[in-house]
Parts: sequence; structure tokens; C-alpha cells
Amino acid sequence: MQRIGFIGLGLMGQPMSRRLLEAGHQLTVWNRTPEKAKALLAAGAAWRASPEAVAQASDVVITMVTDSAASEEVICGPGGVLEGTRPGLILIDMASIAPEMSRSIAARARAKEVAMLDAPVTGAPRLAADGTLGIMVGGPKETFEACMSIFEKMAVKIVYAGGNGMGTTLKLVNNLILGVAIEAAAEALVLATKAGLDPQSVIEITSVGGGRTGAMETRGPRMVRRDFTPHFSANNMYKDLSTALKLAEECGVSLPAASISREILRAARSQGKGDQDSCVVLTVLEAMANTIVQLKV
Ligand SMILES: NC(=O)c1ccc[n+]([C@@H]2O[C@H](COP(=O)([O-])OP(=O)(O)OC[C@H]3O[C@@H](n4cnc5c(N)ncnc54)[C@H](OP(=O)(O)O)[C@@H]3O)[C@@H](O)[C@H]2O)c1
Repeated sequence: MQRIGFIGLGLMGQPMSRRLLEAGHQLTVWNRTPEKAKALLAAGAAWRASPEAVAQASDVVITMVTDSAASEEVICGPGGVLEGTRPGLILIDMASIAPEMSRSIAARARAKEVAMLDAPVTGAPRLAADGTLGIMVGGPKETFEACMSIFEKMAVKIVYAGGNGMGTTLKLVNNLILGVAIEAAAEALVLATKAGLDPQSVIEITSVGGGRTGAMETRGPRMVRRDFTPHFSANNMYKDLSTALKLAEECGVSLPAASISREILRAARSQGKGDQDSCVVLTVLEAMANTIVQLKV
């Protein structure tokens, strides 16, 4: 079984790496904030002092940090993965980053005879713990096939999207839908409240029929409970919509709904709510409508 190195033990990285450990892989980890590794080390993972040292101890290195800058830093920076490589190592970047950064990192990895996949995920920390994520993959087909058994331990849906950068491109397209859907769900709850409805009735009726969305199913109950504990932060959703809008500009495509959703997220961030869950956009819309979404008891 391949020895796996895992870099980035945030909300997603912890449950994803734990599944690989529990499946029997030898697991070596690093995280910028070492305390977050405690539970994994207690479960049998090994710690190394840098991404470089993790690469030296691994056959496959997975990175799961925040954004383009963070992936570039832990992979290409001083003490990064590419300083600890040898020909034949495989690198899988599972963060949601800009496609051009995925391609740039892949080129730098190739120069060291390291094959790289961009393999971002859909799902939430709970789905990561259950091994029911979706994974979309860009990079050399033979590397994708060599990593299939790793992906299968984390996901129920694995889609090969094409060459390097196409996995992260598909992820942007997916999150465009999610970002707009969360915003639409929040708008619906605000309008319903202002019009005198119980917001619970919106959650119930949209569980069937054409108004059904995963956004309302998963975020609706949390919004009406005013539980904004981060599962997927407003900062990360803002990052993904901003990257999608940049790609749209390059492609000459207008994304009016995504633009507005990004602006509401920007307001949430300006109000100091960036670290809360992305469904905190509800509170921005509530302020605009001068109302509070509350269950009628
Ligand atoms: N949460 C979700 O539901 C979800 C779903 C699908 C995809 N994603 C994507 O998955 C990725 C990780 O998300 P997450 O929710 O796990 O985020 P998170 O909880 O904020 O974790 C981010 C991780 O990145 C590390 N990091 C950030 N900047 C770094 C830097 N400059 N150098 C080294 N490490 C750095 C953090 O280290 P520290 O611990 O030191 O801060 C942490 O380990 C993101 O690209 C996100 O868009 C998330």
C-alpha cells in the first residue's frame, strides 16, 4: 500500500487523512498549526517538521490547504514538497485553487519528474469523514488511474476532467452553482419571513419538486437555527466565486448571479463574518430587509 503524506489538516484535511489512515495506509502529516495534528498522531499518524520532510517519507503526497497562495507555498516554497521529492513521487493537490496555479505547479513538479494531479473535492467535513465526497481530477490519465484506490477511500463520485487544471476548473463550475444556491436559499427565507410565513414551511416544501436544492437541504435548517459554525467558510466561498469570475472574464462569459452572490459574501466578510459558515450571507440579507428569520413555534 502506498505511503501517504498529508499536508493541511483543516476542516477537510483532518477527516480525509483519517480515512486513509484507517484504511491501512502509512500516514505522515504536517500542518502549519501543529496542534491540529494531535488527534491523528494519537490514532497512529507520524509527524514531520516540514512538507519537504513529509515528501521524503511518502510515495504519494496530498495537499489540502486554503487557496492558490497556500498551495504554492507548501509545494513550491522553501521547505516545500518539491524540495523533498525524488523521481516517481506523485503529488495530489486537493485544494480548490485557480486552474492556472494548478497548471503552473504541475509544470514545476514535472521538471522534477513528479506527476501532479489537481483533485479538488465536493462535500463537507461530515461527508469527508464518511468517505462520500465527490472528487474531480485533472492531470495525466495514467497517474489518475494509479491513484484511483486512494480516491475510492474518500469519495463515492470520481470524475476525470482532463489535463492539469481541469479538475480545479470543474470545481469552480460546481461551486458557482453552490454559491448562488446558498444565496437563493437565504433570499427565499428572508422573503418568506417578511411575508408572514414560517421559514420551516419553505424548508419542507422545497424538499420536493423543482425548488429542491442541496443548499436549502443542508443549510436551510442551520440558517433557521442561526447556527453559522463553519462547515465551509464564507471566506472560502468568496475565494471560489472570485476565481470563477476571473475565469469567466478570461472566457468572455457574463455571470450575473455569481457576481451578486460574491458581493453579498464580500459584505459578510466586511462585517467580520468571513470565518463563519458561508450561509451567514443570510444575516446580510436580513439587515437589508430589516428582518430576522425565526421559526414560528
Ligand atoms: N469545508 C468544506 O466544506 C470544503 C468542501 C470542499 C472543498 N473545500 C476546499 O478545501 C480546502 C480546505 O478547506 P477547509 O474547509 O479544510 O479549510 P480550513 O479549515 O480553513 O483549513 C485550511 C488549511 O490550510 C492551511 N493553510 C492555510 N494557509 C496556509 C499557508 N499559507 N501555509 C500552510 N498552510 C496553510 C491551514 O493551516 P492552519 O491550520 O495552520 O490554519 C489549514 O490546515 C479549500 O481550498 C476549500 O475551498 C472545503
